[in-house]
Amino acid sequence: MSQEAWNQVDDYIVDTLLTADPVLDAALADSAAAGLPAINVAPNQGKLLMLLAQMAGARRILEIGTLGGYSTIWLARALPAGGRLVTLEYAPNHAEVARRNLARAGFAEQVEVKVGAALDILPGLQGPFDFIFIDADKPNNPNYLSWAMRLSRPGTVIVCDNVIRDGAVVKKNSGDDNVEGARAAFSFIGGEKRLDGTAIQTVGAKGYDGFAIAIVE
Ligand SMILES: C[S@@+](CC[C@H](N)C(=O)[O-])C[C@H]1O[C@@H](n2cnc3c(N)ncnc32)[C@H](O)[C@@H]1O
Repeated sequence: MSQEAWNQVDDYIVDTLLTADPVLDAALADSAAAGLPAINVAPNQGKLLMLLAQMAGARRILEIGTLGGYSTIWLARALPAGGRLVTLEYAPNHAEVARRNLARAGFAEQVEVKVGAALDILPGLQGPFDFIFIDADKPNNPNYLSWAMRLSRPGTVIVCDNVIRDGAVVKKNSGDDNVEGARAAFSFIGGEKRLDGTAIQTVGAKGYDGFAIAIVE
């Protein structure tokens, strides 16, 4: 199977299961215009995040790695009235674009974009969160998972993105910090008694990668 086939199937999924979404299209267009890299989740993956957060009944969501707020908008759509989302972003220009995109999507009040290194911000957050999405600098995955444990409760769902990395995750001593970060996420989830997790390989418009997903027990 080729990237072209994966793209066609992603298009099919979007055409059949997702509705036209000018707000999300505008978020991507404005992110691109501002020079942000197109490393957001794909639309069908964004919808998956929304559905998972809804299934978890999430009222408080934490996201680590905002970029232009694309996945943030999907996650915020899962919130009930009165629900809150906090998203952490290192780059001030990414955060600025995200705030504009979130405001246009109607989430200026419900979503707080905090700017800085996530490891500096996390100690000041008040848990528990019901759903935590980790999608920032991959070498810090185990640190983020460790904070996710501290900011969670039994039943919290944790999703960690980009843990397959073109299949390179199986390579020991890959020499690639991002691959090591993916492997560290697996080690953390597999070694943490209070977590029950699995991972899903994905192919599509964003290539070959995958999510780890876990629940706090
Ligand atoms: C893959 S992008 C996030 C994509 C976004 N979740 C989406 O799907 O739309 C990763 C983001 O994490 C941010 N980032 C990198 N290192 C960080 C850190 N130490 N703390 C907070 N954010 C960080 C990057 O600036 C980038 O915007």
